Order: sequence, then structure tokens, then C-alpha cells
Amino acid sequence: MAVQTQTRWQRARVIEVSDAAEGVRRIVLAPERPEHAAPGTHVDVELDVGNGVRRVRSYSVVRSADGGRRLTLSVRLSPTSSGGSAAMHRLRAGDELTVTAPLQNFPLAVGATRYVLVAGGIGVTALVAMASALRRRGADYELVLVGRSRAVMAYVDELAAEHGDRVRIHVDDEGTPLVVDDLVARIARTPAAAGTELYMCGPIGLMNAVSRSWTEHDLPATNLRFETFGSGGRHPAEEFLVRLPDLGREITVAPDTSILDALEAAGVETLSDCRKGECGLCLAKVVGSTGVVDHRDVFLSDSQKERSDRLCLCVSRAVAAPAEAGGGPGAPAVLSLRLT
Ligand code: FES
Repeated sequence: MAVQTQTRWQRARVIEVSDAAEGVRRIVLAPERPEHAAPGTHVDVELDVGNGVRRVRSYSVVRSADGGRRLTLSVRLSPTSSGGSAAMHRLRAGDELTVTAPLQNFPLAVGATRYVLVAGGIGVTALVAMASALRRRGADYELVLVGRSRAVMAYVDELAAEHGDRVRIHVDDEGTPLVVDDLVARIARTPAAAGTELYMCGPIGLMNAVSRSWTEHDLPATNLRFETFGSGGRHPAEEFLVRLPDLGREITVAPDTSILDALEAAGVETLSDCRKGECGLCLAKVVGSTGVVDHRDVFLSDSQKERSDRLCLCVSRAVAAPAEAGGGPGAPAVLSLRLT
């Protein structure tokens, strides 16, 4: 059984597409029932990923203009995508697609003493509107932008122009990578530390590092907020098999599908809520694996991930073991699971 928030679908027309950075498309939609999208909201988009297969993908609303008559999304083309991001990159002005109204599960709280927004790569899309809202409120905030190279970082110039010296830019290939511990230690040293909220969206490795450091500096756990969708894992996604010994089933999980989606498509009942690796409701026991589990959630601790006896079905995956560990070329990983 999937526990999901009520979904209101509608048609939306693509009114503009352009490049926001290398490999990142900026797509402006005009929904048939406009509704202002608050900072932190996203829309789910139903996409035809080929061969009649339809998938739902979530994208942050970067900007909401004219009462929601213009919703801007931005999508990075995943090199391993055979589905969602490739379909979004094929969109042209005039195309139509099916989307939800704006959905909120990353709300910006009111009243924090200070705000720190940390965006890794395409994660910036979840934070652009938040930063603008904080500027308009006259809040004390900083926006930390992190990327591999400036060419692939969307909205950097726009954000620097809007937020001036409240923006800190860290670019790996410019020799200015983010040192997570330095950032969190600096937050912990300020008089406003206990009232500082940190909002982040980016690769799972970055979010885990921030979360670890946040705990080590004894900062309040409730002041750390994540947006996780789109977080990549440690390994590129590849096809693997899930065995359910209790049900006598074996199900293939394609590179662009989650285990949860694959199980649901095969008629296997599962529990889920956030579908973003945050709530832990979809946890399953790992009873065997010929490969490596690529944990992509922010629910399990580092030590639980290392033990790897449970995984979040909605985001985590498996990849074939390297040859030296017994993995054969072309042999997909096989993951045996017990649903709880
Ligand atoms: S449904 Fe929430 S962690 Fe998977």
C-alpha cells in the first residue's frame, strides 16, 4: 500500500525552453489551473519515457511568476538517464504535459535567527525561490553554491547579482571546493548558532557530510532541512534484479526506475510516504546481495549504511560488484529483500 498525498493532475503547456547551464534545461510551464508556488515546492511531472512507458518525476519550482501562470523548472540531463531527464530535455515550446499543482514538502520556516542555504549542483533549483523570499523578508541568510565546474552550475550569475555578498561560491575545478566542516564549524561559532536553520539540496554525499558535521557540532537536528530528490548515488544507476524469497518473485529494476516503482508496477504491495529517502517508511531487509548497495537516502545513519542490512526502496539501488570482488562483466547485481 502506498501512502501518498492527494495528487491533483492538470495539463500544462511549455511556453519557453532555454539552456540554464551546460546540460541543464530551463523549462517554463503555463499550467491550466495556475496556483502560486511557494518557496520549496515542486511539481510532479508525468512523462512518456518511450515504448509507451510512463513515469512520474519530481522537479523543484525554481520561480513562480504571475500568480503561478509561469512556473520555471530546471532539469539536468543525467548521463545515465534513459527516461525522465532525457524526456524533459526533448520538450519544445508549445508541447503539453501532465503535471500536478505545486506540492510542498520542503517549507521555509518563518522566524529563524539565521538561514544557511546549501545547494550542490542542480540542487540549486530547490533554493532559488527560498533565497529570494529571505531577501524580500530582510532575513539574515547566506547562500552557498557548490559545483564541479562553473559551466555546469545553473543560476550562479543570476544569484550573485540578486544576493551580492550573501552568496558564497565553491567550485572544485577552480580550487575552491566546499570544506563542509569549515562551514558547519563557522555556523556553530556564531552567537546565532542555536537559531540557525540550514536548508540543503544536492548530491547525497554532500548532504550526508553536512548532516554528520551538524551532529558533531551539537547543532539542533530539527534545524537541518533536506530536499533529496534528484540526489545521485555513489555509483551510476544500472539495471539489477530484486528477489523476494518470501513471495517467490524476481523483478528487474531498470536504471531509470526505483525499486519501489518496479515493485509497484509488478503488483507487489509496499509501504511508502515521502518517496525521497527521508521518512524510512519503505525500509526493506537486505537478506542477500551479489553486488554493492548504493544507499541514496538521508534516513539511515552512516553505520547503518555500512552494515547494509536494510535499504530504502524508494531511492537506493544496487550495482554489480567490481570484477576483483567476484562480479562478472555484464552480470547484473542480484539483491534479495524481505519486505517489512
Ligand atoms: S518512502 Fe520515505 S524513505 Fe522511502
